[in-house]
Amino acid sequence: MPDPVQVESMFARIAGVYDLLNRTLSLGIDQRWRKRMLRAAGEVRGRAVLDVCCGTGDVALLFARAGASVVGVDFTAPMLSHAVKKAERNGSPAVFVRGDAMRLPAADQSCDVATIAFGIRNVSDRLGALRELARVVRPGGSVVVLEFSMPPGAVLGRLYRLYFTRVLPAIGRLVSKDRDAYEYLPRTVLAWPAPEQFASEMRAAGLEGVEWDLLTRGIACLHVGRVPRTP
Ligand SMILES: C[S@@+](CC[C@H](N)C(=O)[O-])C[C@H]1O[C@@H](n2cnc3c(N)ncnc32)[C@H](O)[C@@H]1O
Repeated sequence: MPDPVQVESMFARIAGVYDLLNRTLSLGIDQRWRKRMLRAAGEVRGRAVLDVCCGTGDVALLFARAGASVVGVDFTAPMLSHAVKKAERNGSPAVFVRGDAMRLPAADQSCDVATIAFGIRNVSDRLGALRELARVVRPGGSVVVLEFSMPPGAVLGRLYRLYFTRVLPAIGRLVSKDRDAYEYLPRTVLAWPAPEQFASEMRAAGLEGVEWDLLTRGIACLHVGRVPRTP
């Protein structure tokens, strides 16, 4: 499991190039995936949304633009300062606070939706983080998780593995000048559980009605679960 101190220091080092590399390495598809996340959350206008592991704020800004009242949480200060600057530039009302996904700075049942994009792969205790997400959402509200995934099928799986283990670290290293960061990414993605297994972890965290969608032939996966109305 990832060590939080190393994870924080790694994201602090790459914060300045994070957005550029995201768009380049995903060929711009990452923003489309975040829009799918927004659609999966249903009508968010006027809703309270907590975006956990918010990084440079892309998900938070998107939900805020759709009319949600959004708080983004992340433990890496340099990622947050990019999020704050981006919100200022865009005139976004999204608010950003420093906090740990394992101990969210939010009261029980205080939001309608909790989101986490490309974040849960980095936490030291996945089930603990899912329980935290479920804790802060009101009964009937939803938890939406976007993550990279292993595409099914031998050919695509092999191509993807090649891209993730060879091409991506090479480009990442060149642009970020950080050797470890873009070797860490494929390591965690390849260790990510299959959608069925992650869905059962969401159920184990107390969520119900868990469903998932494979995005872009399974390169990413979107899971949605609901907090039960009756305990
Ligand atoms: C790959 S970035 C994703 C950022 C953003 N959600 C996006 O869609 O681009 C992962 C983020 O998770 C944050 N993170 C990892 N573990 C965390 C934890 N335990 N608590 C809070 N933030 C964490 C990192 O600081 C980093 O900003």
